[in-house]
Amino acid sequence: MEIANLVVTLICVISFTCTHAKIGYFWHITDFHYDPLYTSQGDTRRHCRRADERGSSGHHRALGRYGDYSCDSSLELIDSAARYMRTRHSENVEFVLWTGDIIAARYTGNEDDKYQAIRNMTDLLSRTFSSHFVFPVLGHLDPAPSAQLTNLWMHWLPLEALQTFQNGGYYTIEQSHSKLRIVALNTNLFSIRESNSLQARNQWEWLDAVLDKATTNKEMVYIVGHAAPGDDDCYAYDTSVDANAKYLQTVRRHSRIIAGQFFGHLHADTFRVIYDHDRPVSWALLAPSVSPHRDPAGSSNPGLRLYKFDTNNGKVLDYTQYYLDLSAANRNTGAAEWTAEYNLTQYYGLHDVSANSLHNLADKLRIGTPQETAVFNKYIRAYNVRHENSDSCDGACAHQHFCAITCLEHVAYRQCVEAAASALAAAGKSVPLVAPLITVLTILAFIIVLL
Ligand SMILES: *[C@@H]1O[C@H](CO)[C@@H](O)[C@H](O)[C@H]1NC(C)=O
Ligand SMILES: *[C@@H]1O[C@H](CO)[C@@H](O)[C@H](O)[C@H]1NC(C)=O
Repeated sequence: MEIANLVVTLICVISFTCTHAKIGYFWHITDFHYDPLYTSQGDTRRHCRRADERGSSGHHRALGRYGDYSCDSSLELIDSAARYMRTRHSENVEFVLWTGDIIAARYTGNEDDKYQAIRNMTDLLSRTFSSHFVFPVLGHLDPAPSAQLTNLWMHWLPLEALQTFQNGGYYTIEQSHSKLRIVALNTNLFSIRESNSLQARNQWEWLDAVLDKATTNKEMVYIVGHAAPGDDDCYAYDTSVDANAKYLQTVRRHSRIIAGQFFGHLHADTFRVIYDHDRPVSWALLAPSVSPHRDPAGSSNPGLRLYKFDTNNGKVLDYTQYYLDLSAANRNTGAAEWTAEYNLTQYYGLHDVSANSLHNLADKLRIGTPQETAVFNKYIRAYNVRHENSDSCDGACAHQHFCAITCLEHVAYRQCVEAAASALAAAGKSVPLVAPLITVLTILAFIIVLL
């Protein structure tokens, strides 16, 4: 036995072509939106917080202990998510990606309260993954990088990472036993407000240097961040057009070493394909949030995602999406029952997780009327994490999904949506006024951007 193993190892070392996939797992968790003020005696018009004496006139309904679709997360919901993760694959999990928006959108606490809330979430994850590293990135609701935050995450990040994190909220991690590098970005620096800052310029320079070095060292790279590139953002979170274009250009230039891009922020389960002259060259997968609340585009069930990958080279092999049926959990008296929702490759019939496969999947979302396509229905069911939203996705809405997935440049996205609207109008599926109106709006938006 031992001699056989030795021979295999020697052949591997000599030939450099050994393709023994060594399977590992990592969690991707995002957008906790932890609200310390959530209470089941709360009022949905007050974000599920207790109404003050004057305001409470018996308007509120009883809220669930695990949360409400119109509010941010209760502590019980996040606790149940952590407990569930502890029961799954705890021994062959390699690391955890935690992509920001840790605290609730309308959390009214001061900086110190926010810090306490983040510290409590950090403690929870430290207990949940006591022998693993968690790699956090900042979302737009989180505080700016500081010495305080850096101290909080000191046990997860090596010294070099702590230094760049404290200065700009970004860092890189070298996996010691594989040729995989994790590049954690501060996507807040891509926003219009911050994109011209010194920190933003430093991050670009740093990113180029890290990717160049990874190329030289023949490493594969995961890019991790809060907000994905693209222009379909339903939040008031304005990515700078330039920063978006620059990011996409960077990905194209280094697509050969980028083994995956992982984002959150949208509170939805979706993906992005990046093209270079019409050739699909890279992909990004967006994980749904732990928080059930999505604003203003509906809501979704809480989700957790476990990736399966080849630890030798970082190749993503699959993921399992887990979710909690929030209504059912609130109805039941027992513990919340998190469960597997679907596996990526099986669900969509992909033979691998690659830019090509995801491009082909996106193409299927374009063809035919969406209401009739089984693939689109599957996609939208996953998008909402099996929560039925009251307004269904019509033809124009379906085209917007297709455009968001395939057209990440701002101009291309607008053109895609506009072309779809014209096509729908021509097919008599839409009020004829809509297409010219969108054209006018697009031109107006353009003028505003140019100004
Ligand atoms: C953090 O946890 C402590 C100890 O359990 C608790 O007293 C405190 O209220 C929590 N604070 C927040 C903001 O969650
Ligand atoms: C997903 O795949 C795993 C094995 O990798 C399997 O145990 C599980 O049942 C699958 N789940 C679903 C929902 O298909």
